[in-house]
This record gives sequence, structure tokens and C-alpha cells, in this order.
Amino acid sequence: MEHLKNAWYVAALSTEIEDQGMLSRTILGQSVLLYRKLDGNPVAIRDRCPHRFVPLSMGKRDGDDVVCPYHALRFAPSGQCVHNPHGDGLIPKAAKVQSYPLVERDGFIWLWAGDEALIDPSLIPDYSLLSGGHANSKGYAYMHMQANYEIVVDNIMDLSHVDHVHGPLLNTAGHLSAQQPKVVEEGRSITVRWDWQQDPPMGFFSPFLPQPGAAARHHVTVCWTAPGTMLLTVGAVQNGGRDDDGLLSWDHHLMTPETETSTHYFFGTRRNWLVEDAELNRMKLEGTVHAFTAEDKPIIEAVQREMGTTDLWSLKPVLLTSDPAAVRSRRLLAKLIAAENR
Ligand code: FES
Ligand SMILES: [Fe+2]
Repeated sequence: MEHLKNAWYVAALSTEIEDQGMLSRTILGQSVLLYRKLDGNPVAIRDRCPHRFVPLSMGKRDGDDVVCPYHALRFAPSGQCVHNPHGDGLIPKAAKVQSYPLVERDGFIWLWAGDEALIDPSLIPDYSLLSGGHANSKGYAYMHMQANYEIVVDNIMDLSHVDHVHGPLLNTAGHLSAQQPKVVEEGRSITVRWDWQQDPPMGFFSPFLPQPGAAARHHVTVCWTAPGTMLLTVGAVQNGGRDDDGLLSWDHHLMTPETETSTHYFFGTRRNWLVEDAELNRMKLEGTVHAFTAEDKPIIEAVQREMGTTDLWSLKPVLLTSDPAAVRSRRLLAKLIAAENR
């Protein structure tokens, strides 16, 4: 599958890889085995023995190594075979699997998909908001979408859909569709901002405002960074306050291609109100994840079924005033991929 190679992709939430566990996950069309060494550092190697191509995740851990379940070749975190119980025990030159550089940061395990000589940790977006704050002000989730990751990115880069797709918790009552939001491009990022007055406020904020249920100014800034991660700063404020005076939720939506037509959807969120309230935290996370899976997911997956693997532009999509951020992020990504292939 075509994708940006010299880039970081989230391979897993930190919590998905347990001490002695092994997680097999297809990333960019390749099976990858994720586990932790005894010192806790994560490892990612190709989940496919080079002998007869059994997934190594079906095998067993042996210290920091993994033993293939079929004929017992043993592989180190580097991907190198370090033990061969057959014949004279010599290790064939080709007995190794790819290993992928990882960085664990802000509750996510980031995988470098490109050339090792070009690794650049500064390309990991700054999602350090998730490393601060009270434990009960934050939450993470994993979702799966049967759709190409660019279709999932389009969904968030054009938030006018919230007016039409989402129920009482997230509904914006037609305020976004009327706007032509401002779009800014900088480096590998596209930012789009929406600002509106809403009465009554979004269900998400309404009970927690100083005057619950009364009109509030709402805003959302979406910052997409290539290839597929977005930070949404969403807020509501009353009485003419600035953004920072009001309620704020920082929602991280991170897309990793699984295959051409499916996506790993990682979510991390933090809020600035009632930060110690564990029950509110649970309800907010469950409510938003439910909205994504019950309201966005059926539409996104139906779009995928209609489009198949045909390129969006060749289908000549109708463009609306809400489209520029989604269009520009697609164009920027295509430009970065083309530059890599030059
Ligand atoms: S398939 Fe792994 S050792 Fe044979
Ligand atoms: Fe949505």
C-alpha cells in the first residue's frame, strides 16, 4: 500500500502491551509483533518467521527473545535469529526478521515505518498534554474502522458533519455548516478553527458551564499532522470570556493504516473541568467513544464500501465550503509521499 514511509505511526496504546504479553497487529499491511523486554521497553518485530512464515506471536517468550512455535528458531528484539536447534546449530544468514524503531511517549507507542538512517523523533507531534494533569481527567481508547485512514481523517477535518451526524451529546445544531472556517498550513500540519455561539450549549459542556444550559461561545481547533494524527482543542465559554477561561477538552485522534481499507483508531483525551471526578471521566470517555462508533463509524465504513480503492479525486467529488481543511491535508500528504518517491 502507498503511504508516507519516513514517518511515525502509533502502533499501540502503552496499556495494550502487557509485561509478558505479545500483541500481533497488522500495520501498513505488514504483520507486526509488539511486546516488552524485561526492562519494560517495547519491541516491534515482523510477526512472521522467515523459515515457514508462522506468526511468531503464536510462539513463546524467552526472556527478551521470542521462540517460533513451529521449529523453534529463537529471535532477539533486533530481529536477529540467535538460536537454531537444528543440525550443527549454525544460524543461516537470512534467519532474521525486520525490527522497527519505537518511541513510547504520552501513552502511545510510535513506530518508525521508514529508513532507519532518517529517523527523526522531532516528527512525533507534541501530545504531551496527555502526560500531564490528574489521572481522572484523562482517558484512552482504541477503535477499529473498516475504512482507509484518509477517509477517517476527512471525517475530522470537516467537522460540519457534527451538525448532521451526531446526537445530543455532541450536536452543534447547524452552526458549523454555515461557516467557512479558517485554514492555516505550517510545515507538516494543517490547522482549522471553528467558532460559534450556541443556545442551548452542546450536551458535552452544558451541565458544567457556570450557567448550565445557557448560551455559550463554542470553538474547536483541529490540528492535523501528516500522515494521520489530529489534536482537537474543543471548548465552551460564557460571559465573553477567552478560550482559556472556559471548559476545554483536548481530544487526540490518531490514525494508523492497518490495510488499504482499514484503520487503527487511537484516541486520547483530557479535560480541564472537575479533573478529579472519576465517574465523570468514565462517562465522558464512554460517551464520546460511543458517538464515534455508533454515529461516525457506520457512515465512514459505508463511504469505504462505495469508494472501494478508487482514488477520491478520480471520482470528482463535489466540494463544499467546509471542505478546504480536508482537501489541503490530503494534498499535503500526497505531496510528501510524492517527494519521498522522487
Ligand atoms: S516456521 Fe519458524 S522455525 Fe520453522
Ligand atoms: Fe464525528
